[in-house]
Amino acid sequence: MAKVTVDGRVVEVPNDANALEACRAAGVDVPHFCYHPRLSIVGQCRMCMVEVEGVPKIQASCTVPVRDGMVIKASTEKALAARNATMEFLLINHPLDCPICDQAGECKLQDNAFAAGLPVSRTSEPRRQFPGYDRTPIGPHVIADMTRCIQCTRCIRFCEEITETGELTFIERGGHTIVWTHEGKALDNDLSACAADVCPVGALTTRDFRFRKRVWWLDKTRSVCDGCEIGCNISIEHRDRIVYRFLPRVAPAVNDFWMCDYGRFRSEELNRQDFLKPEIRVAGGDAERRQTNWGEALDAVKAAIEKDPSKVRVIGSAFLTTEEAWLLAALCKDSLKVGSPEFTVDIGPKRRIRNKVDGWIYGSEAAPNSRGCEAAGLTRTSSLSSSSPAVLYISDASFSEKCKDPAFVAGLRQASVLIVHARTRNALTDAADIVLPVAPLSGKEGTFVNAKGLVQRIDTAIVSPPVVRTDLEVLLNLGARWNAFDTQWTARDVFEKMQASVAGYAGLAWDSDALVGNPPSISPAAAYDVLGLERDPGVEVFSRPSVTAPDRLP
Ligand code: FES
Repeated sequence: MAKVTVDGRVVEVPNDANALEACRAAGVDVPHFCYHPRLSIVGQCRMCMVEVEGVPKIQASCTVPVRDGMVIKASTEKALAARNATMEFLLINHPLDCPICDQAGECKLQDNAFAAGLPVSRTSEPRRQFPGYDRTPIGPHVIADMTRCIQCTRCIRFCEEITETGELTFIERGGHTIVWTHEGKALDNDLSACAADVCPVGALTTRDFRFRKRVWWLDKTRSVCDGCEIGCNISIEHRDRIVYRFLPRVAPAVNDFWMCDYGRFRSEELNRQDFLKPEIRVAGGDAERRQTNWGEALDAVKAAIEKDPSKVRVIGSAFLTTEEAWLLAALCKDSLKVGSPEFTVDIGPKRRIRNKVDGWIYGSEAAPNSRGCEAAGLTRTSSLSSSSPAVLYISDASFSEKCKDPAFVAGLRQASVLIVHARTRNALTDAADIVLPVAPLSGKEGTFVNAKGLVQRIDTAIVSPPVVRTDLEVLLNLGARWNAFDTQWTARDVFEKMQASVAGYAGLAWDSDALVGNPPSISPAAAYDVLGLERDPGVEVFSRPSVTAPDRLP
């Protein structure tokens, strides 16, 4: 570690840190554009200027390695004047259209113009235009607008150094330079939308989120992507019960600063809620299902099960949180006496993400929590057995893609009574006798265990519509009918009850860092990165649902 003095404050930083990182560690905010903790240093934007004692010329701090005893002066007149000059130079050719730019609110140019720019513009000439290179899709998810580019090269370096696909480059020269794709090649890789994340301005934005919501209206809730077992840490960004986007949250040992496009664009699907009330088919056979209340629905489930508990079969799901899986397993074992519930996971296609600790890590399961479910007492099977029980209870009607296949469903429909937890309609819910409406990922609280065995917590982003319940609440209310559970238990209560019996959970605390994707074994350098070096979306402090949301504009 090196001892560095920044504006009179002494900090210890890793020997491989640079002066910009030392300033951030000392709490001195040095504006920057091209620096990113996971990309190579290019010193391109000249925004991070500081003075270093003993060095005659002013320096771009991101290009200066620290040394023990270094003295950095980040707030001198000379440093501030240099940053002013850089901002003025950038703004000469940047459109002054923050009110209609979708990056407004999370734009480093906007932030730095306020914090480090001149109060007035000294130019009134029309800004540079790039007809044909503005508001143009350059891949399936990314829209480019080169009138806004400040040539920081973050996106080019991201495609070269992180995805190693190299789709982006500079074309043209001098004042005409723009970032574009190599001829004929789309920006189309597994992580392409992360190129928009690293863009500090509005030059690259994602097609799926563009102009859907002003970012300052969005509430942020920490969660974990449920697209595969890697378990990328995400922020669910939502407003008025609508999920607008997922952004990656920094977790150096899991997904670092990134997430794949497949996981990111699962967000829209969370807004679908086909079942708003329990539904029940009274007479069996061909009768239509009708809507009912929870009391009648759960009483009917209990009555069906109690007819002959030896002929009840329960199927779980790797989309359940570990707490929900533990309740399901406990209910089956202790109250229903039907043995361990089975579950199966769809395999493929292979997903991958790059992180600081492992390089690339891979996921091949299409669900987030098979390890947690096994630890909680569910039995993994590669294919479900073809027994025909009297009652089949399925705790997730979308546990597999096969649930959309009428032939597969016909096999499950052999049961006399088919009960499902469901959010979206498919062939399995069409066939079911009792449908219990449940919340999506954004309505749940609990933990998942990822491919590396890390226990990661998800928080409730959106409280579901009044009659919809979480799987946890459904299981608690069902279990209460056998006096097995208390309906007032929260996910945290269940977490604490199951800790002793679930492998990997002993010693963890509900609020510990280990549960938010930052494992305790994190290296000092990695911790240092997480502790606020980078202000990209997703690194900010996360609010609890809704209550801290800013007021709507009139
Ligand atoms: Fe240092 Fe760009 S030159 S952040």
